[in-house]
Amino acid sequence: MAEPKRVNAPIVIDETPGKKAYCMCGLSERLPYCDGAHSREDVGIVPKVVEITEPCKKAICQCSRSGQLPWCDGSHSSPS
Ligand code: FES
Repeated sequence: MAEPKRVNAPIVIDETPGKKAYCMCGLSERLPYCDGAHSREDVGIVPKVVEITEPCKKAICQCSRSGQLPWCDGSHSSPS
């Protein structure tokens, strides 16, 4: 069983419309998207699946402390 990988900054992307599965374990090789590593590594964490309706810029949380997952809410900047 692997440990989740956390980074103290979001990944900011220009997102396109469609159903997206954002990695919440940090082990994906296709960050910020899930590549199934959470299952292969048995981390006990699943991706956040959301529907994007129009092109937009998104900040994807990589610290897992956001109150609005999968989106960054700035929690990485506050003391833990
Ligand atoms: S690979 Fe990280 S949640 Fe799926």
